[in-house]
Amino acid sequence: MSQHQSEIKRVTTHQLQAMKNRGEKISMLTAYDYSMARILGMAGIDVILVGDSASNVMAGNETTLPITLDQMIYHATSVVKAITRPFVVVDIPFGSYQGNSSEALRSAIRIMKESGAHGVKVEGGEEIRESVVRILSAGVPVMGHLGLTPQSIFKFGTYAVRAKEQEEADKLIRDAKILEDCGCFAIVLEKIPAELAKKVAEEVRIPIIGIGAGPHVDGQVLVIHDMLGITQEFQPRFLRTYADLDAIMTKAFTQYIEDVKSSDFPNEKESY
Ligand code: KIV
Repeated sequence: MSQHQSEIKRVTTHQLQAMKNRGEKISMLTAYDYSMARILGMAGIDVILVGDSASNVMAGNETTLPITLDQMIYHATSVVKAITRPFVVVDIPFGSYQGNSSEALRSAIRIMKESGAHGVKVEGGEEIRESVVRILSAGVPVMGHLGLTPQSIFKFGTYAVRAKEQEEADKLIRDAKILEDCGCFAIVLEKIPAELAKKVAEEVRIPIIGIGAGPHVDGQVLVIHDMLGITQEFQPRFLRTYADLDAIMTKAFTQYIEDVKSSDFPNEKESY
């Protein structure tokens, strides 16, 4: 092992818990390929989520439902190869854990064994308790996901803010406590009122990572294509866009096309 490698300490679930305990916010972004994950790792991200949002931003599907376990493993394998420090968590895709807990365990083990990732994420609370317990029993760290859970989009019928009504808010708090009691190491809360997210972050000990859940949680996550301004059609209120890569890339591509057409590229220095 080189000195450089031995100096880099991988982020662990214990470190994420310690970050919550001392009030240090956790940074998390999605990545699905080697090149993006390498840059993210160098920038110092704490957690990389190989999200099933790959179904939308990589494969062009309307929802996260079509992506398969094999495809998620392919993306995760590419990400893991690129990083040394971040904790890598992978979404178990729709249809690979809801059926029964044995299937859930099989899917989690395939992800861990074949990709080398460090944990898995599942959507839901009480309904998937058995699957969560079974995966955890094999020593696989599990991250929960409550609120707007995109794998249930056809049940919700809309991408609107969840848990605005008391009944749904109460269930969300109950589910968060169930996931904590099962032994999950963290929970993502998506698109819920900031005050509810604050209450959850105060009432459970494990880290709460928000996306559209306001500032009073233990960390934040965004889909990398959204925050880089690559996806143009998705502009929810919770999204902060940190770059306009669509414009930068379009400019580069049009310049390249012009240079090829005009025979400006390649020039003498670019030739052998
Ligand atoms: O798949 C994904 O990118 C996610 C985030 C939205 C949290 O689950």
